[in-house]
Amino acid sequence: MEYVIEMRNIVKKFAQKEVLKGVNLKVSHGEIFGLLGPSGAGKTTIIKILTGQLQCTEGVSTILGQDTAALTSFVYRKMGMMMDNLGLYERLSCYDNLKLFAKIYDVPQGRISEVLKQVDLAEAAKVPVSKLSKGMRGRLALARAVMNEPELLFLDEPSSGLDPQAVTMIHQLIRKEQKRGAAIFLTTHNMEEAGKLCDHIALLNEGKIVEYGSPKEICLRYNHQNKLQIRLLDGRNVVLPNGKFAADEVKEYLAKEMVETIHSTEPSLETVFMELTGRRFE
Ligand SMILES: Nc1ncnc2c1ncn2[C@@H]1O[C@H](COP(=O)(O)OP(=O)(O)O)[C@@H](O)[C@H]1O
Ligand SMILES: [Mg+2]
Repeated sequence: MEYVIEMRNIVKKFAQKEVLKGVNLKVSHGEIFGLLGPSGAGKTTIIKILTGQLQCTEGVSTILGQDTAALTSFVYRKMGMMMDNLGLYERLSCYDNLKLFAKIYDVPQGRISEVLKQVDLAEAAKVPVSKLSKGMRGRLALARAVMNEPELLFLDEPSSGLDPQAVTMIHQLIRKEQKRGAAIFLTTHNMEEAGKLCDHIALLNEGKIVEYGSPKEICLRYNHQNKLQIRLLDGRNVVLPNGKFAADEVKEYLAKEMVETIHSTEPSLETVFMELTGRRFE
């Protein structure tokens, strides 16, 4: 099995509405893959197809080598997921929510305290979910997703609506899961998050993947705004195009030892994606 996830020409229609229009994706073992796209692009639909919650209209997709149209418990045991709609039991405590899950997935009970500690909920173990803040719920959902030490982890907007502290913790845990050997498929509309965390990202817009690569590759591809920023010792800031036309001027500053700092600026993922989709992601 070369890839943990493969989608080939996936089409999804809801009644007459074609939401996915031929999506192709590949995710390798152990990588953090980010699916980005504006609200309504079809990100959650893709996760639902990959996790067997929805059937696609056309195409074939596999996870861990198995067709997602007929996933077996063999694969379910090797994956974890965190999504909005996968409800936690409001009246049960954090601990009991995880205990229920541990039973279904044959996870040793000792693991419950371990993951609660990992997401900093050890002290809230006995608190019912109904009393948790949004950030705490997010962390509990993540604890549940990683409890069975999955080979493949799906996270649908894991940091959306959370405070910065909770986001940092979630990012740390995602990196830790990757170190352990898991591949992570996450969706987000936070460019900064994607740029920092992901090995590869794909941009979904109107049902199609319109860009794919490492964050760095993608930014370099849209490098036509590339500029040189030079800060001179006399306090002046000089901005020049990054090209041969600037060579003489740069050379002169350097020759006269006037330069304090010099660097090139690339476009951010955010500007690239705004250019591609024509809109902001919020
Ligand atoms: N069960 C459904 N029935 C009809 N339309 C749906 C259903 N689920 C999603 N959609 C539509 O599909 C599109 C993509 O939705 P979704 O995958 O949730 O987008 P995203 O997660 O990128 O915000 C939206 O226009 C949404 O209204
Ligand atoms: Mg969604």
